[in-house]
Amino acid sequence: MKFQKTNCCLKGEITVPGDKSISHRSIMFGALSEGKTEITNFLQGADCLSTINCFRRLGIEIENKGGIITIHGKGLDGLSSPSGILDTGNSGTTTRLISGILAAQPFTATLTGDASIQKRPMERIIEPLSLMGARIESLHHNGCAPLLINGSPLKGIHYYSKVASAQVKSAILLAGLYACGETSVTEPVLSRNHSELMLRTFGAAIKTDKTTATIVPRPRLTGQKINVPGDISSAAYFIAAGLLVPGSDILIRNVGINPTRDGIIKVAKAMGGHISLLNEHRDGEPTADLHVTYSPLHGTVIGGDIIPTLIDELPIIAVMAAAAKGVTIIKDAAELKVKESNRIDVMVRNLSAMGCSIIGTEDGMVIEGKDPAAHPLQGAVIHAHADHRIAMSFAVASLIAQGETEIPDSGCVSISYPGFYSDLRSLSEST
Ligand code: S3P
Repeated sequence: MKFQKTNCCLKGEITVPGDKSISHRSIMFGALSEGKTEITNFLQGADCLSTINCFRRLGIEIENKGGIITIHGKGLDGLSSPSGILDTGNSGTTTRLISGILAAQPFTATLTGDASIQKRPMERIIEPLSLMGARIESLHHNGCAPLLINGSPLKGIHYYSKVASAQVKSAILLAGLYACGETSVTEPVLSRNHSELMLRTFGAAIKTDKTTATIVPRPRLTGQKINVPGDISSAAYFIAAGLLVPGSDILIRNVGINPTRDGIIKVAKAMGGHISLLNEHRDGEPTADLHVTYSPLHGTVIGGDIIPTLIDELPIIAVMAAAAKGVTIIKDAAELKVKESNRIDVMVRNLSAMGCSIIGTEDGMVIEGKDPAAHPLQGAVIHAHADHRIAMSFAVASLIAQGETEIPDSGCVSISYPGFYSDLRSLSEST
């Protein structure tokens, strides 16, 4: 797809699709519950559809009609042996969380996904799950999928994770549902806590204390009604677009602002961005409408405990930094190298192609931003490496880049945001 610099400001309202992390978990926890779970505002992106398909293959009836997902849960012991290989597509969340569940089942399952999934590290879940008694084999002996999981009886452990990863934490807690004795995970920094909050709503006993979560095994989970909040990771592209395109004034409705996910708002404000939160709701997963207006940005330093709260937003933050005056340093973010693509390398290459001074480091990037009025980014051919967040970040960059930007594999946005390009266009059309 080809993009041109916009010649107008962005105006109007937008509602982004449901949160990806919460959508995945609604399917999984609904499947393990007794009775019906109904989900509204579910993200109909390819990743979450992979989760639905996996649980259908495990014998769970899931309806997807008229914007409502209905899961006919069968309880903790209701899954059945899948007929073929479970295909997790591009989804790290599906692959890692389902592994925690499969590790405890009385059957064997094989799972794998696309080329990107087959390169992503699975040792981080194989190690703790094996300590619990799981038998998981990386079939190519490279610590990646395909994984052969021979379900086994598990025992509770207290695991100290080296990485702040909600996928690792959640895989262990889900295995802990079936273990003998309590299971705890301590992370170096708190990662997103949707599993803890949602499992509690479904009826599990979960204690949390700073960066430790502890689960009591064998709860009786009961089906729930879940309305998924808008995904702040998707809202991030509109936050950036509103801040970067001169004259813009946009309202992003019903965005999840869980404090373990809201780092983009803090960083945008630290860079001089005008964002206000309206219509806040603080019951369950907190939500707000975000009002964003054009703001000249300046550089900042991003590192430490805030990193897990904005890990998926770092590509679009790097775009903001490229159009902000002064230097932005992103550090403590080595996890970027093992996402859907190596997001440090891919951002450095593509932003350099647009004329930005950027260097990649072991755990982040150093970006020398320029005043966009005097030294605008230049249109370029962008290689997104089939990574949805890279494609969306550069579609936003194209709005302020001189000339034409081309993103050949732009279709990968369907992983998390199928309607992204038309939503972005709708804001220029409403001026
Ligand atoms: C996710 C956790 C994060 C995030 C991913 C979704 C989740 O990954 O990057 O997009 O739903 O638990 P890690 O847990 O690997 O940091």
